[in-house]
Amino acid sequence: MSSMRPYRLFISLISALILASCGSEPAKFADVDSQRLLNAAATPEEWLTYGGTYDEQRHSGLDQINADNVAQLGVAWTYDLATERGVESTPIVVDGVMYVTSAWSVVYALDAKTGKELWLYNPNVDKAVGAKACCDVVNRGVAVWKGKVYVGVIDGRLEALDAATGELAWSTITVDQSKPYTITGAPRVVKGNVLIGNGGAELGVRGYLSAYSAATGDLVWRFYTVPNPNKQPDGAISDSALKDIGNLTWGDEGAWTTDGGGGTVWDSIAYDDVNDSVIFGVGNGSPWNRDVRDTGKGDNLFLSSIVAVDAATGAYKWHFQTTPGDNWDYTATQTIILADLPIGAGGATRRVAMQAPKNGFYYLLDAATGKFISGEAFVPQNWAQGLDVNGRPIENPEARYGETPFMQNPGPLGAHNWQPMAFNPELNLAYIPAQEIPDFYASDSLFEDRIQSWNTGTNLAAGLPMDLDLATAMALRATLKGRLIAWDPITQSARWSVEHSNAWNGGVLSTAGGLVFQGRLEGEFAAYNAVTGEKLWHQNVKSGAASGPGTYEINGEQYVTITTGWGSAYALAGGSAYDQPVPPIVGKVVTFKLGATGTIPDPNLVMAPRTPKADRFGDQEMIQLGFDKYHFNCRVCHGPLAISSGVLPDLRWSPISANADVWQSIVLGGALSANGMVSFADTLSPSEAEAVRAYVIKQAHDGAALEAEVAALMAAQVATP
Ligand code: HEC
Repeated sequence: MSSMRPYRLFISLISALILASCGSEPAKFADVDSQRLLNAAATPEEWLTYGGTYDEQRHSGLDQINADNVAQLGVAWTYDLATERGVESTPIVVDGVMYVTSAWSVVYALDAKTGKELWLYNPNVDKAVGAKACCDVVNRGVAVWKGKVYVGVIDGRLEALDAATGELAWSTITVDQSKPYTITGAPRVVKGNVLIGNGGAELGVRGYLSAYSAATGDLVWRFYTVPNPNKQPDGAISDSALKDIGNLTWGDEGAWTTDGGGGTVWDSIAYDDVNDSVIFGVGNGSPWNRDVRDTGKGDNLFLSSIVAVDAATGAYKWHFQTTPGDNWDYTATQTIILADLPIGAGGATRRVAMQAPKNGFYYLLDAATGKFISGEAFVPQNWAQGLDVNGRPIENPEARYGETPFMQNPGPLGAHNWQPMAFNPELNLAYIPAQEIPDFYASDSLFEDRIQSWNTGTNLAAGLPMDLDLATAMALRATLKGRLIAWDPITQSARWSVEHSNAWNGGVLSTAGGLVFQGRLEGEFAAYNAVTGEKLWHQNVKSGAASGPGTYEINGEQYVTITTGWGSAYALAGGSAYDQPVPPIVGKVVTFKLGATGTIPDPNLVMAPRTPKADRFGDQEMIQLGFDKYHFNCRVCHGPLAISSGVLPDLRWSPISANADVWQSIVLGGALSANGMVSFADTLSPSEAEAVRAYVIKQAHDGAALEAEVAALMAAQVATP
């Protein structure tokens, strides 16, 4: 085991000498500058930025933990994040301190060796803001720079904290807070500017990326990804790109003129230091349905695009649109990875930008020009026949759905979502946390804009069964698939692939130890052989393991870490996606090292009694009305078919379902609006709210019967030798 490379040993000796000569020097916290960030790949002891390095490869040079010894990996420490809501954070580790976030944008500084809490910062978000969050009140992490820690807060604030104490240094509001904007993504610091985007395109906003001075919090530049409703200049750096390119691809009428058009920059931001470009991913259209969004039926740039701008000024350089005229929530916000691949003339390297967006195709672009090099589907999909020579999809006409539901793969949750992919530059392999979550698309004939509510222009009840018997439940569950795919971007084909038992699995970490780490929805965290895909080690982390794992080294010991917790956007797929009912479980940071023998505390498995709280009521017409209204208004938080993912209350078992008056006081009266359960008085009449209750009670009776049936089947299986 010779993980300590000579140069690192040398550096350690030097720093020991420096420390010895000025022993009273105060400890430095997050002492990160441009040089250190640019050099991150050569200092794998630290994890300095969300994607590990500016090129977002999530590949660590550490090799102490490798195929020969990974079986000895054990729990070094755990830290309780004290939230039952979704956790998606990748920890930053620098100068011995781990900076990590959890739900509601809370930031924690921990001793990276022991997990001991150094400080905690709570931005004290008004919980009512939860109603704006499409996909739970998650946060994917912080950025660090010159003694400060930067966090994007779910309510649209960008804040700078003192890295030593957690005290607020500055705070600025980056969005119009009267609109349904949220921030879930991790900021990046490039050239002294903090880059931050936002989300909200399900409810209706206009997307942009902003750069703020890391020192002062002043706005330096802003790039809007779609025109404003009048196609007039904003006085922003995006003005000329929108005038010359963007505006021409939008009509003058449609819901985009009131809904903002979408195009939020809610996740990936890479920095290409060779070309001095910031390259970011742009999200879906708002509303989703293009017929409703833009009667002009154009490509709607820069929706679903990868955009490159000048790093210092934000001036437009190039774009590549993955899904012209997005109609399906096909964001191109997924991980953008930069790499040098031997694909030039005579084996020369060519600098590329790569992405595996929601639409299911893997793209290879020239990082300098954005020119399409190649692309291929990495999952089975039925919306396009392939890509043309320019990388434009050749659409299956049925995918431009009407009122008849079309079952499409990928669905809105995508063939790959926010869970970060990784790239091993020694093997030239990308590792994609891929999934199949097909869904029905159909237009909503009664579409009208609803403030502070989902506005997709699609029928959110399309294709779902009114009655859930065992066969239907099993058929639905069987459509959900997940894979870890080792993808060769040069040949655009899978080298190997590991089939998982479910979709919505975790982000990926690649290491020079020849390993690939990935968590799974059901709580398994595993290491695979990077070359063969053979599973070499696994541990049950006792909660959902969806985040991107990280690795670092302290005093010559390598650590591997992951944040856990149920939740995140799987609320959208709901509890029917799980094989077992999921209890609320508190999220954690779980950190491993070789030879450690710690344990992960057992979760608190107390679940509310899963029994109907009232007798069935309502005739067929009322139940049908309740089914429709439920799926249009409640599905996105309480789960399809009224089956919760375990994060927000499962209405079937709620005592409130038994009491018509209390139900109305919450659903229409807004009695719990301070907690993110908004009033639906603008969209539902009292009799419609009561119809929703009738449907929920029906689902409680059907669900209890179904669970009894499943339990009996499982008992019979155990009894049969
Ligand atoms: C934007 C997300 C969101 C949507 C959409 C939503 N809810 Fe809720 N709901 C919540 C949250 C969060 C809570 C928990 C509030 C609390 O902790 O007090 C909740 C709680 C409830 C409760 C109380 C349950 C209990 O046992 O405490 C009821 C009843 C309820 N919701 C009904 C509905 C109905 C009916 C709809 C659709 C018309 C709906 N909700 C849509 C977020 C949502």
